[in-house]
Amino acid sequence: MTRQPTLQTARLALRPFRTADAGQVQFLAGDRAVADTTLNIPHPYEDGIAEKWISNHRDWFERDEQAVFAVTLKSDGTLVGAVGLRIEREDDRAELGYWTGREYWERGYCTEAVRALLAFGFGELRLNRIYACHFSRNPASGRVMQKVGMTHEGRLRQHSKKWDAFEDVEVYGILKGE
Ligand SMILES: CC(C)(COP(=O)(O)OP(=O)(O)OC[C@H]1O[C@@H](n2cnc3c(N)ncnc32)[C@H](O)[C@@H]1OP(=O)(O)O)[C@@H](O)C(=O)NCCC(=O)NCCS
Repeated sequence: MTRQPTLQTARLALRPFRTADAGQVQFLAGDRAVADTTLNIPHPYEDGIAEKWISNHRDWFERDEQAVFAVTLKSDGTLVGAVGLRIEREDDRAELGYWTGREYWERGYCTEAVRALLAFGFGELRLNRIYACHFSRNPASGRVMQKVGMTHEGRLRQHSKKWDAFEDVEVYGILKGE
């Protein structure tokens, strides 16, 4: 697939990011509470980081490396978060990642977006397995994984180092057809 589609759910449109989203990405992902439980979001979130990240998306999608979607409200277009798959094509597998801006937490947006992304991954992207990891101290992320039907596969003790502290990590996975 060469062109990234927009995915529709009841309340959300998952669309490719645009350069014009950079300000809102910096605002939402620049929140320390969002960076704190993710591996890849820097803090502070300096000017230009969002633009650079967004500028990579098209190439990543065309090269079958990543599919990153902006999670937006159908009602008024507001960008509330991001979901993505990091594709490991040799194994027809991908790692799922996501964040929601703090002011939009606990409204079911991430769960709704991830359900659509899993369908896209197993459908259009023909994946066989999708997995995801969260810090053990981040149960909200674990709830999302449980709600979308992923299976808890294990705990990797002190697997990651975040801001100089070792973090236990929970691993979840789901297979095509599950
Ligand atoms: C994890 C995150 C993406 C969830 O986004 P969201 O849009 O609020 O998710 P949803 O509303 O779909 O679901 C959140 C669930 O977590 C639950 N939850 C929230 N805080 C919780 C806590 N401290 N303990 C247990 N469950 C919790 C909510 O109640 C909800 O479950 P429910 O529907 O059964 O009540 C969001 O908190 C976030 O962006 N965190 C910072 C970045 C991050 O951690 N990303 C994931 C890295 S693995």
